Amino acid sequence: MPGIVIVGAQWGDEGKGKATDLLGERTEWVVKFNGGNNAGHTVVIGDEKYALHLLPSGILSPGVTPVIGNGVVVDLAVLFEELEALEARGVDTSRLKISSSAHVITQAHRTLDKVQERFLGKRQIGTTGRGIGPTYADKISRVGIRIQDLFDESILRQKVEGALDQKNHLLVKVFNRRAITADEIVDDLLSYVERVRPMVCDSGLLLNQALDRGEVVVFEGGQATMLDIDHGTYPFVTSSSATSGGAATGSGVGPNRLDRIVGIVKAYTTRVGAGPFPTELFDEQGDWLRQAGFEFGTTTGRPRRVGWYDAPITRYATRINGITDLVLTKLDTLTGLERIPVCVAYDVNGERVEEVPVNQTDFHHAKPILEEFPGWSEDISGCRRFEDLPQTAQDYVLTLERMSGTRISVIGVGPGRDQVIVRHDLID
Ligand code: IMP
Repeated sequence: MPGIVIVGAQWGDEGKGKATDLLGERTEWVVKFNGGNNAGHTVVIGDEKYALHLLPSGILSPGVTPVIGNGVVVDLAVLFEELEALEARGVDTSRLKISSSAHVITQAHRTLDKVQERFLGKRQIGTTGRGIGPTYADKISRVGIRIQDLFDESILRQKVEGALDQKNHLLVKVFNRRAITADEIVDDLLSYVERVRPMVCDSGLLLNQALDRGEVVVFEGGQATMLDIDHGTYPFVTSSSATSGGAATGSGVGPNRLDRIVGIVKAYTTRVGAGPFPTELFDEQGDWLRQAGFEFGTTTGRPRRVGWYDAPITRYATRINGITDLVLTKLDTLTGLERIPVCVAYDVNGERVEEVPVNQTDFHHAKPILEEFPGWSEDISGCRRFEDLPQTAQDYVLTLERMSGTRISVIGVGPGRDQVIVRHDLID
């Protein structure tokens, strides 16, 4: 029985929440394996719209146990805010499990994220300002605080003091900010101990046992391939492993238990924050696409950068993740366009390049080589079978499929849970 990984194939916000939710009905477990409250899933159920930042979207499906894996960084204040907001709307959140090895985001991380960005000036990454990067930096530097540290106050205090040591020098002497005391952080973390205790688990053990029993586990990736710390457009990336390999390291499950790798792509492209984006539109067509797709950040509210579909990027994502199935979202957004441009290759300093250049400077110089395909004007939001789509929409999907190197198994035609066309089942 499958372990199914869901990853973004572009720069995020491809509609992963919807795909996870689509699987939710037949899923027993949904695991978040990377990132933190920098993510933003919008899930629409009936007339209700839920914006989740930290919690796995599986929290909305009653039969699912949501898990926050060891690869995640957890802001406990945000965790309990989100849980309380869901409970107030009648959602049962009692099944949530959190790995004891997940790291916690503290006030020091949030402050550093903001001041470091300001310090970068023109070289800013455009982070979400939630403390994600500094928390992962501490993890890699081996001075991070893990959830399990909360249960031993003296260890917690020692670790917080150690972690603050250098940071306070930085904050005071370089960034001209006030020092943060160990007491502030320890008191804040301890205020969550009793509430978090029942949720804490060994996520690797729990998930391996679930897979042994033949239960379906969905590994939900935050951010996306092009924001992955290793494979994305470094340094304009997030600080975690957003690709399928991260599902194994970020949850404690071996790679041979990951049976299906589902990549999510939008029928066009968006990006938040700085960094290269070859198909980006700066004209009124871009404004139209942003409005039509309502491309404003779930977490930050920032208008997203928008551009046409970039086939080399999907091919790259397919290769890096080992994608077995693509979910193409927001096809309905393109309705009304007479012709739809698609990037088929790049022009890098006068040379045609078929694949994503591995060299950062080349990627910054890459100009899209666009081919145009006929559009459609019919409302497709009610289509539920591939054959229901206008011929030109079918052809557009088949063209993307041919260029992307793997099959498009699901097509999103609207924001609702049921507004999908399933060509191949994601769970065999
Ligand atoms: P950080 O993850 O806050 O450190 O931000 C690093 C980069 O990743 C910035 O360009 C963010 O805009 C981007 N980013 C982080 N999370 C998301 C997401 O969920 N969707 C899209 N972009 C994201």
